[in-house]
Amino acid sequence: MKVIVGNEKEISQLIADEFVKVVKAKPTAVLGLATGTSPLMVYADMAKAYKDGEVSYKDCKSFNLDEYVGLEGTHDQSYRYFMTENLFKHIDIKLENTHVLLGVGDYKAYMNQYDKEIDEAGGIDIQILGIGSDGHIAFNEPGTPFDSLTHETELTEQTIKDNSRLFNDISEVPTRAVTMGLASIMKAKKIVLIATGKNKAKAVYGLIKGPITEDMPCSILQKHPDCTVYVDEEAYSLVK
Ligand code: F6R
Repeated sequence: MKVIVGNEKEISQLIADEFVKVVKAKPTAVLGLATGTSPLMVYADMAKAYKDGEVSYKDCKSFNLDEYVGLEGTHDQSYRYFMTENLFKHIDIKLENTHVLLGVGDYKAYMNQYDKEIDEAGGIDIQILGIGSDGHIAFNEPGTPFDSLTHETELTEQTIKDNSRLFNDISEVPTRAVTMGLASIMKAKKIVLIATGKNKAKAVYGLIKGPITEDMPCSILQKHPDCTVYVDEEAYSLVK
């Protein structure tokens, strides 16, 4: 596991550069994408690279990590909506090649075929991850088995509290989600993780220094052959 420390602007640009490098080397690359606040600047930099004519994503496919159960893709807190607003509509990826888990309707059927779809697309070439303050990656909360594939899960009180900042009221935050599993994520050929702020320091310690345990789901990344962690000084403070 490699660790790179810098401010949010610097590390976001470095991660966007990694995505651009992968897509330039393989225009049909399969991109693993995350939502949340952490990747926002990365997506802005990826869109800028497209606008500047440096890269085209027109032959790429994408798979997102997770979605809230109960939210339609048109809901402004759904992850489908987030991706459209923050990345897809700013680049030339074809919408039919973007995959986000469903949170309504026959979402379980889609969830059950998600890993197979990723495999059939050739596997994820580069996966971006954020990290929860409780050490979750995607919505794999503490206690999730390391061999988990895409599944439905209950969010912890901590995650609901953390994510309530984006809703009008904490009672509106969905309590369940569908998420790629830890084994699904570990299959990605290359992983980049971004963490900023003091709120992430404990999780980042577990990620880099802690024992590999299902109580700290992110710790499994220590076993990945090509994982780089990008942190700011605050997120890195307990490791130092
Ligand atoms: C989102 C996801 C989550 C977030 C994590 C951090 O698709 O998979 O694991 O990455 O909850 O969220 P932010 O970046 O909002 O702090």
